[in-house]
Amino acid sequence: PTVAVLMGGPSAEREVSLSSGRQCAAALREAGFETVEIDAGPDLAQRLAESRPDVAFNALHGRWGEDGCVQGLLEWLRIPYTHSGVLASALAMDKQKAKEAFRRAGLPVVESLLAPREEVSERHLLRPPYVVKPNNEGSSVGVYIVREGSNAPRLAETMPETVMVEAFAPGRELTTAVLDDRALTVTDILTDGWYDYDAKYAPGGSRHVVPAEVPRDVFDACLDHALRAHEALGCRGLSRTDFRWDESKGLDGLVVLELNTQPGMTPTSLAPEQAQAVGIAFPDLCRRLVEDASC
Ligand code: DAL
Ligand code: MG
Repeated sequence: PTVAVLMGGPSAEREVSLSSGRQCAAALREAGFETVEIDAGPDLAQRLAESRPDVAFNALHGRWGEDGCVQGLLEWLRIPYTHSGVLASALAMDKQKAKEAFRRAGLPVVESLLAPREEVSERHLLRPPYVVKPNNEGSSVGVYIVREGSNAPRLAETMPETVMVEAFAPGRELTTAVLDDRALTVTDILTDGWYDYDAKYAPGGSRHVVPAEVPRDVFDACLDHALRAHEALGCRGLSRTDFRWDESKGLDGLVVLELNTQPGMTPTSLAPEQAQAVGIAFPDLCRRLVEDASC
């Protein structure tokens, strides 16, 4: 079968996606598939209609590729695709809506609200420390941390008209991937400072401890919460749920930050690393996603 690997695209996470896509394409060839690599530009619909792949492997991140848009196009073209469908993708990409779904499912989340950019630049809408971020971006693009004693942040013009203001959740960065309705394991992400874009992607920017060395109850809660978050949004295939854990509060210090329906997919990214840790090699992971593709 021929697999079209969709990558790049116009989002702020374009470079991350190109890296994910190229490495998934190489792994799929290793697993015996023929691949077509497609940089998702304005001619995407035409390229898919012409090449008629058996499956589309979605290696896009961020807006258009992770928010239901590309998923809708693939439904329209009747091309089976990997990862989540239209609704789950759209819900997960809208951080505030996803959080409402998590809250309804009984998962711990931190307080947040949506507000116009101007208002957020004028005054504190939450007591510092808090975080301001686009409601629909990934990889920490456009994230402001407002610390105690500082003024309201002057937001860049490039920020969306409406932004999310979220109470700052202190603590360690933990994450759990779910593959085919199974929570894989827990990773503890160690950085010197904030886990920002550079810490995520620069060599040596962060260190991953997998399985995380945290108390058993916290570890199990991550597995449980990741699976319930995946189910609450109706995700398919692979997802990854990110947590903060304030260890001074024990199990009560664990909160769900967000769920990624298109987690980073280089062999050293968090979700593939977890798959590897439970015995699923990278080419196998990519093959499984292709085999589970649907539309
Ligand atoms: N948004 C990036 C790709 C991630 O969550 O892994
Ligand atoms: Mg994200």
